[in-house]
Amino acid sequence: MIRLNYDNVLTTIDFEKYRSKLEKINEGINQKKGAGNDYLGWADWPLHYDKKEFNLIKETALMIRETFDTLVVTGIGGSYLGARAAIEAINGLLPQKGPEIIFLGHTFSPTLTAQTLEYLKTKNFAINVISKSGTTTETSIAFRLLKQLLIEKVGEANANKAIFATTDAKTGALRKLATQNGYTTFTLPSDIGGRYSVLTAVGLLPLAVAGIDIDDLMAGALKARSESVDNLDHDLYKYAVIRDTLYRQNYKSELYVVYEPQYAMFNEWLKQLYGESEGKEKKGLFPTSVTFSTDLHSLGQFIQDGSPILFETTLFVENPNQDVVIPSEKENLDELNYLAGKNLAFVNKQAFKGTLAAHVEDGKVPNLVFEIATLDAHTLGYMFYFFMRSCAVSAYLLDINPFNQPGVEVYKKNMFALLGKPSRK
Ligand code: PA5
Repeated sequence: MIRLNYDNVLTTIDFEKYRSKLEKINEGINQKKGAGNDYLGWADWPLHYDKKEFNLIKETALMIRETFDTLVVTGIGGSYLGARAAIEAINGLLPQKGPEIIFLGHTFSPTLTAQTLEYLKTKNFAINVISKSGTTTETSIAFRLLKQLLIEKVGEANANKAIFATTDAKTGALRKLATQNGYTTFTLPSDIGGRYSVLTAVGLLPLAVAGIDIDDLMAGALKARSESVDNLDHDLYKYAVIRDTLYRQNYKSELYVVYEPQYAMFNEWLKQLYGESEGKEKKGLFPTSVTFSTDLHSLGQFIQDGSPILFETTLFVENPNQDVVIPSEKENLDELNYLAGKNLAFVNKQAFKGTLAAHVEDGKVPNLVFEIATLDAHTLGYMFYFFMRSCAVSAYLLDINPFNQPGVEVYKKNMFALLGKPSRK
């Protein structure tokens, strides 16, 4: 499904040295022991997910597809990145058949918020508000504005029927609001944290509304779990070991590389997953990303020739969803006839091969490549699970709790003080 090629990692990896550590870490994940063990719900989720809620998600998605022309997914971080990554990876970046999915609640941007509200004035829209805590400021502000616009447009009773809330089963402000107003609700299980939640209703409802086959997605995730749960030779453990080896050789940054802009949000999902899980106690690789060939014309210079602080992890998709053939021209003034009859996938692949050779052979930048045949729902489900489990292992290799994020509270404390937020009674 996906294959990890580490032929170009430019160092020897001693997998055996890690075996006993991995055994212990994996036992901890399987038996829900160790740091952050009350947030390990994602590990068995592809096996034990709530089938009743899953069917309700499918029914609701169908109803939304038939009733509305737009769905506004309102969330931030783990409550939005996975859904957006999957929708863009599969459907591409331009509007498709079926409802348009737009995103808000991930920013304080006055311009984007104003423009989105203006745009929605003429749309028959529904809202999927997603927040585990129910108190995230970006999401709460956006939801308040969207809710008021919807009420103005269709009245309170109809608005309440067009709002779908995904939140904690019992606690939080959003759960209270949903109960009071009778919104249809979906659950973010208490033992699954935001950045590990894409395979729950958090990702599933927006994906199903976008027309993506969520049965296939879950089947892919289950495959990754079944293959890896008791098999330390699986690529996901190898990936964790290689990252750890490079980190200890003083590479401080991992650069995720994709070759089509529709996969850029998958990079964003990876960056949140790894950055928020690993970057603690002054440890961890700094995850960053590029989209090639676009960024070869900018950051490519640094990667090739700049400070030797990073290694690359490329996600290369062999078969694109669609393709275009380059036409011939009689005059050939642009001198492109040597490519006539070739498709863009071929050109993109040669760009990848040429870049890999340049960065490895000349630039001496270690390179890992995930070879992906086709990025469909099944493969994406596989990849989501693969990277979540591998990320947890990576963090445990650094002796870090993968599931908390103490660092993100500091800015909030300052911001709330500046905004004059009253303290809770
Ligand atoms: O991974 C995490 O826990 C965070 O990134 C959260 O997903 C993000 O902060 C949003 O939180 P909430 O769902 O509570 O609004």
